Amino acid sequence: MAHPDRYLLAGVMGWPVMHSRSPKIHNYWLARYGLVGSYLPFAIKAGGLDAALRALAPLGFAGCNLTIPHKEAAFAIVDRVDPLARRIGAVNCVVVAPDGTLDGYNHDGFGYIESILEAAPNWHADAGPIVVIGAGGGARAVLVSLADRGAREIRIVNRTAARAQELAREFGAPIRVFAWEERHAALAGAAMLVNTTSLGMVGQPPLDITLDLLPTAAIVSDIVYVPRYTPLLAAAQVRGHRVVNGLGMLLHQARPAFHAWFGVMPEVTPELRAMIEATT
Ligand SMILES: NC(=O)c1ccc[n+]([C@@H]2O[C@H](COP(=O)([O-])OP(=O)(O)OC[C@H]3O[C@@H](n4cnc5c(N)ncnc54)[C@H](OP(=O)(O)O)[C@@H]3O)[C@@H](O)[C@H]2O)c1
Repeated sequence: MAHPDRYLLAGVMGWPVMHSRSPKIHNYWLARYGLVGSYLPFAIKAGGLDAALRALAPLGFAGCNLTIPHKEAAFAIVDRVDPLARRIGAVNCVVVAPDGTLDGYNHDGFGYIESILEAAPNWHADAGPIVVIGAGGGARAVLVSLADRGAREIRIVNRTAARAQELAREFGAPIRVFAWEERHAALAGAAMLVNTTSLGMVGQPPLDITLDLLPTAAIVSDIVYVPRYTPLLAAAQVRGHRVVNGLGMLLHQARPAFHAWFGVMPEVTPELRAMIEATT
């Protein structure tokens, strides 16, 4: 926890960075919990990450978040990588230790699971097969967190089959790979569907998938949060599915970071949610 007499500082490093919602989220919490400090956006090019991270300690920062393109590069820079971040393959949060060394964490999986539990408190990862569309960075966080919650069968569908096969090799059971053309059939008997691709995001085509075989009791979630309700979620809502958008993941991943830096586990209040919704 930061020193009580110090102006509290944290930030996000990315390129680009001005689209990040993190400053709004963390500055809201700093004010809400009566903490004096700031959370700032830093536009850092790939080649500047090492120097920028090493500057955190001398400048008195408690830590920072990392966004595109730094989440993988940070591995080689921080002094210790948390085992969960290592399995996910990315660092999205850096914490400055009391001696000035740097710890790397990844809270995206935590954020994802919290967002599902918020919408469906009785949800269990082992309720039935889970279909994950996509095999990128977001998918890795979702997969690791679902596997850790006891998912027994995860069906991965990705446009580039080799990437899905690589994840199956890396994580082993419970992952099964389905071809992109099999994405509609892969929904048969599933308890949950997750889109982790960028399809459905503003400026991108929608995810082309027919939901006919998905049982109506299945939860449909999308980690895309701009727009808040992607065409996939809209179609699922029409069929009567419980839907979860990507905003919860974004909001909840920020909580353990704030806690690690400033010693308070913050809440996702309706006011905060509304504030961030107004930006999407
Ligand atoms: N809510 C949150 O907190 C949160 C957190 C992380 C990410 N996200 C969102 O999740 C999305 C993905 O992010 P990411 O970091 O995982 O990206 P990424 O690592 O670049 O992965 C992109 C994924 O989308 C697939 N894809 C892209 N265009 C496609 C197309 N035209 N047809 C089929 N598949 C396509 C890729 O398939 P290939 O392998 O075939 O290229 C890959 O599986 C973004 O919209 C991001 O904003 C949200």
